[in-house]
Amino acid sequence: MTSFDQDSRHLAATYDRISDSQFEGGKRLVERLELKAGDRVLDVGCGTGRLAAFIAERVTPSGTVVGIDPLAERIALARQRSGEIRFAVGSAEDLSGFPDASFDAACLNAVLHWIGDKPKALAEIRRVLRPGGRIGCTSSPKELHWTGTMPMVCASVFARSPYLEALSPSALEVMSRHFTTGEMVSSLMDARFELCELHVMRRTQIFQCGDDVVDFAEASSFGNFLAIVPEQLRASLRVDLAAAFDATKEPDGISVRSFGSLLIAEG
Ligand SMILES: C[S@@+](CC[C@H](N)C(=O)[O-])C[C@H]1O[C@@H](n2cnc3c(N)ncnc32)[C@H](O)[C@@H]1O
Repeated sequence: MTSFDQDSRHLAATYDRISDSQFEGGKRLVERLELKAGDRVLDVGCGTGRLAAFIAERVTPSGTVVGIDPLAERIALARQRSGEIRFAVGSAEDLSGFPDASFDAACLNAVLHWIGDKPKALAEIRRVLRPGGRIGCTSSPKELHWTGTMPMVCASVFARSPYLEALSPSALEVMSRHFTTGEMVSSLMDARFELCELHVMRRTQIFQCGDDVVDFAEASSFGNFLAIVPEQLRASLRVDLAAAFDATKEPDGISVRSFGSLLIAEG
């Protein structure tokens, strides 16, 4: 199970500060959603609300933006960011607070892979979208996972003692819950969406030091990343991971490469 109990005010603030690459990916997603003034948009897994604020610039004042996220600390930051957007603690699997067909578009930026019950969540999103409403998702395709810098560097550290013996199978399961591209497409079709666009592209994040890479991984996983080992090993794991990333540093910084996917579908 994805744990929402490891998050903290500190991790939420770190995510807000260090999530420029997610924000840029989110802006591309919003462009592809082709939102227009007056649209009613649901930002599912809105985190600290940066992207919701960007969406609001496009659709308000005649349209509306609602952001939901299970993490109370992130919703608290989102509320500080904008008073005109409605932010609520909640999860994609239960949108019972919203009537049928009450949104024109739904946005899930870097969220789908975290959702525990994806069929339930997509069925709920389909229900709250009007006929012809659009859903946009960004994620990382599972079949390309091992081409990424992050899993390769992390695996080299996790393979060492004492981490190897201490890895938590349930935390590993959470961290590998991504869908393949095929699974993403079929889950949307199962929820009665029609696929409009699918892009798979390479992306590169540049970090100045290994600590920043670990901070990003920990903040964007709301504390699930280091939870892969018991509490007493997390401080040393952090140091060892940071050193492993620092060892890959080039003059312009540490390049963390991965593949991202962007899907747009219509209800
Ligand atoms: C990497 S963050 C992305 C945040 C934001 N969308 C952005 O663009 O910065 C992933 C978010 O998904 C949220 N999330 C995880 N499980 C969820 C669920 N079942 N329903 C809705 N959001 C969920 C997390 O709480 C977290 O804020």
